[in-house]
Amino acid sequence: MKSYRIGIFGLGTVATGVVKILREQAKTYAKRFNVAFEVVQVVVRDTEKLRDPKTQDLPISDDPKSILENPHIDIVIELIGGVKIAKHIIEQALKAGKHVITANKDLIAADGRRLAKLAEENQVGLYYEAAVAGGIPILRALSTSLSPDEIQQINGIMNGTSNFILTQMRQHKLSYEDALKLAQDKGFAEADPTNDVQGIDAAYKLRILTDFAFGKQVSQNDIQMTGISTITQTDLKDVSDLGYEIKLLATVSKSAANKLQLSVAPTLMPKDHPLASVQNENNAIFVNSRYSGGLMFYGPGAGEYATANSVVADLLALVTGSAAPAKFNTHPSSSLALAGPKDRIASRYMVFKVADRPGIIHKLSAFFLMSNINFRNIRQYDPVDDSTRVVIITYPASDAQLNPVKTTIRQARGVSFIHEYKLLVEPKENSHD
Ligand SMILES: NC(=O)c1ccc[n+]([C@@H]2O[C@H](COP(=O)([O-])OP(=O)(O)OC[C@H]3O[C@@H](n4cnc5c(N)ncnc54)[C@H](OP(=O)(O)O)[C@@H]3O)[C@@H](O)[C@H]2O)c1
Repeated sequence: MKSYRIGIFGLGTVATGVVKILREQAKTYAKRFNVAFEVVQVVVRDTEKLRDPKTQDLPISDDPKSILENPHIDIVIELIGGVKIAKHIIEQALKAGKHVITANKDLIAADGRRLAKLAEENQVGLYYEAAVAGGIPILRALSTSLSPDEIQQINGIMNGTSNFILTQMRQHKLSYEDALKLAQDKGFAEADPTNDVQGIDAAYKLRILTDFAFGKQVSQNDIQMTGISTITQTDLKDVSDLGYEIKLLATVSKSAANKLQLSVAPTLMPKDHPLASVQNENNAIFVNSRYSGGLMFYGPGAGEYATANSVVADLLALVTGSAAPAKFNTHPSSSLALAGPKDRIASRYMVFKVADRPGIIHKLSAFFLMSNINFRNIRQYDPVDDSTRVVIITYPASDAQLNPVKTTIRQARGVSFIHEYKLLVEPKENSHD
């Protein structure tokens, strides 16, 4: 039997789960995989903190060198989060010839390729399945089962906090503020929820997926980001009446002209789309590909055991050689161009406040017709205080077509533009672009 000695940075939610799984499954792993793992050192910030009783006997220190300079440690698991210190730890570990497993999405999104190269140069493995959608094995699926295929589009609900908020708003008619407070009370949202509700967290994961699926490294600035905080109960009712569900969706799609379009934004999808059924803190990733068609990966995007299972899966892949380190990301770097305003084509749900006077809807329609944009649907509410809410669903139009319309409307009297959300573009629709 082969034995491996592990050093773990962090002993929080995920690391505690990793230790528990390794202990609970030790006999099984010995029998099934002929391997044994020993956690020989843990490094934390505060060595005095009260820990889970099942981890209290571990050797614990606040000195990174106790792992990084220990020649007997083969594998380092980084579970502290953040970028600066974690990056230093991972670099030092790789340079010292230690394999590294991490769940650190921010760091991998920004620096994954360079760290993977460093791992390759030092002939060790770097794995990070848990960095995208916690317990869902999407990276391994993309780099193994889907490697012969050609990915066309990925749509993911990859932020449990925002999906929980939207679900609670819809099911219990809560305001955004009340649903956020509930998420914070239940421990799903942090005191400062910006990263979750503005799409920043989902964008990190989308960058990693884009690299795996298309071989393209993108930055946060390449992703059009819109958060969920402006969605109101009135929007939810409109959307539902029109037959749609709204989700904070992270999307990367390749157009027929080989342009990549990336966004994290509230997106309308038909109520019967599989992603529409994903409720509360759950995550799901829907992959459209040339040969496999549509595949949905659904499950817990976070949590102690689910995330820890992904970390342990990396550990087993590493030691059993079931996925060679250099092959974790199978895509070579690609030079795919990013979509410009002419390539970003979608139907839109647009909300306006217009003065309650004759001819105003005609005027609004004329603005759209100038850019050759037609309406699929239009709803006008009863007036309140001399103004009325108008909701339009357009036929597919590009940003380039729509931008001048929005500029004209902003300058027009009696019409104000409130907000817009895109409708999910399914690959079939895309291929007609
Ligand atoms: N939680 C999830 O469900 C989930 C899902 C997917 C990915 N992830 C990722 O997994 C990683 C760990 O998340 P988590 O939820 O387990 O975090 P956590 O519960 O906050 O635990 C963080 C741990 O790191 C330690 N730590 C922080 N800074 C340190 C430093 N400078 N030196 C040494 N130790 C340090 C902390 O020590 P003390 O205990 O002494 O404070 C703590 O034990 C993050 O990258 C996160 O994004 C988490």
